[in-house]
Amino acid sequence: MGYKDVYAAWKADPEAFWMEAAQAIDWDKKPSRALNDTNAPLYEWFTDGMVNTCWNAVDRHVEAGRGDQTAIIHDSPITHTKHEITYAELRDRVASLAGALRAKGVEKGDRVIIYMPMVPEALEAMLACARIGAVHSVVFGGFAANELAVRIDDAKPKAIIAASCGLEPGRVVHYKPLLDGAIDLAAHKPDFCVIFQREQEVAQLIEGRDYDWHAVQYGVEPADCLPVEGDHPLYILYTSGTTGQPKGVVRPNGGHLVALNWTMKNIYDVNPGEVFWAASDVGWVVGHSYICYAPLITGNITIVFEGKPVGTPDAGTFWRVIEEHDVKSLFTAPTAFRAIKREDPKGELLKKYDLSGLRSLFLAGERADPDTIEWAQDHLGVPVIDHWWQTETGFAIAANPLGIEPLPVKIGSPSVAMPGYDVQILDEGGHPMAANELGAIAVKLPLPPGTLPTLWNAEERFKSSYLQHFPGYYETGDAGYIDEDGYLYIMARTDDVINVAGHRLSTGAMEEVLAAHPDVAECAVIGATDTLKGQLPLGFLCTNSGTEKPADEIIKECVSLMREKIGPVAAFKHAVVVDRLPKTRSGKILRGTMVKIADSEKYKMPATIDDPAILDEIKDALKTIGYAS
Ligand code: COA
Ligand code: AMP
Repeated sequence: MGYKDVYAAWKADPEAFWMEAAQAIDWDKKPSRALNDTNAPLYEWFTDGMVNTCWNAVDRHVEAGRGDQTAIIHDSPITHTKHEITYAELRDRVASLAGALRAKGVEKGDRVIIYMPMVPEALEAMLACARIGAVHSVVFGGFAANELAVRIDDAKPKAIIAASCGLEPGRVVHYKPLLDGAIDLAAHKPDFCVIFQREQEVAQLIEGRDYDWHAVQYGVEPADCLPVEGDHPLYILYTSGTTGQPKGVVRPNGGHLVALNWTMKNIYDVNPGEVFWAASDVGWVVGHSYICYAPLITGNITIVFEGKPVGTPDAGTFWRVIEEHDVKSLFTAPTAFRAIKREDPKGELLKKYDLSGLRSLFLAGERADPDTIEWAQDHLGVPVIDHWWQTETGFAIAANPLGIEPLPVKIGSPSVAMPGYDVQILDEGGHPMAANELGAIAVKLPLPPGTLPTLWNAEERFKSSYLQHFPGYYETGDAGYIDEDGYLYIMARTDDVINVAGHRLSTGAMEEVLAAHPDVAECAVIGATDTLKGQLPLGFLCTNSGTEKPADEIIKECVSLMREKIGPVAAFKHAVVVDRLPKTRSGKILRGTMVKIADSEKYKMPATIDDPAILDEIKDALKTIGYAS
């Protein structure tokens, strides 16, 4: 069957399609049906099935005789170490950690925050939670203590599992002080913490609260896999919305297993035993789905890579990893390739390696610009597949399904809707638009298995953020169009979310940080185009009248404040002080126009602008920091 037939088969009978896909999963009790729509427009999948994600990702492969196969390859050019863990070893390590968590009182449904760098122990911690039905919430290491505290207060974890440190090129990230700071800041306190001591930095443990990773496992009975209901949450992953309060995307066990398992063959076209490498971070959804869960569920070999595309030690690192570990499919963000291309435009370093085993490159997380795609195509000589998805969906909404049928690539498009997604372009009034017309991208409800059923402790926010604007649809927050062949084009976000090096960040959250500076009366943050990172945040500050502090000093303080409150990942380095912000007569800040000015693009004078002269002031200020040329 080709793509069109598979998509049509899903559309004709979604229930049969997903029940068939569910057969590839080991259920402790098979579900009697796939969709549960009794609470529509909130939907669940495989509600009455009983299942364990860790069993499906680990134990079942050992039972099937693949215990000696490598499950995880850790490759860390930063520490100059590499090691492999087999499925049998992984099972034992995870069962032991899960046993330790249980012995300390972690039970089904309890939350556990994981704050770890790119080490296999991060995956082991996730799987250990899954094993006993605990709900993990991984927090990206590039976030500051304050962001971690916000997540602690929302998820209310019984335990936190952290590493002593992370390693960025040339710098040790001191996780433990960040963790201690976050626990101090948070109103909720975890019962205990488990600390994985790395040799690069051994952290001081707080007696009675912190336990060493190894010591806590000493003498405990390993835990078996606990079957949970299909809709029982596997994890919560926080992502940026329009405000400083992140959204806790909930991922249930059953649908996630079924959907991810389906994608590995049908989209990525990899077979059990082959190496699949997602060069991302476990703190992001790509890391959850394609470093940890999907490759393990299907019995692949996954790579945990602790390094950067450039500088660790050079722009040939990716090629070395591909050759050395015989990677069949690589998944990363376009930024990584832009970084490599900038350092090695002619691809000289590529020539040193044998990449003949590589079959495909998948890109996601941000817009893939044609130059980058073409460069990758020319130099790698494999299909370069852009695909589009979100933390909320957990797997691709649109892709080129290589395992079903490689479709012609149209550069600039992440190709076509995947089964499960009826993607439509809607106008402001919610009416479907014609081919090639730009509008809001929405997905007809219900969303497929594996996608979010709700937001953690925030059902009303879930409804108002995603379901309210277009009744009967899920609003993606992206705008774009579909061409006459059904290919989708993602053009922009419709909200205040920006994308910095494939990292999703909220300008609203950044504005909250700037507004807290005592000398700032009003502020705005926009995402300006950046040739490397896609977008970079730019701040506009109006200071309080009578402030004596020089503008430069206020800007410097704001830059450090952002690093302290949100973290280095915000990459907030530039701001300007202006007298006023451009606004509509009703007081709305004209951020879209400011972006156009910063990007030196033509813009139309907004009809509702309060005072057009302000735009010239904005332009002049931006020129001082190299924008608006
Ligand atoms: N822990 C602590 N700090 C982190 C971190 C982590 N896990 N990840 C990033 N940071 C820090 C970096 O050290 C940097 O700090 P600095 O301001 O002190 O230099 C800052 O956050 C910004 O990091 P990053 O966006 O990674 O920029 P960079 O300049 O260090 O590297 C690229 C640029 C393009 C090489 C890098 O962004 C990259 O590899 N991108 C790939 C994209 C990706 O994996 N996206 C995930 C979604 S698929
Ligand atoms: P995240 O939830 O961090 O994965 O970010 C999701 C957002 O990233 C989407 O809503 C898009 O705005 C953007 N995005 C992800 N993949 C793509 C893609 N292939 N092309 C364009 N934008 C993308």
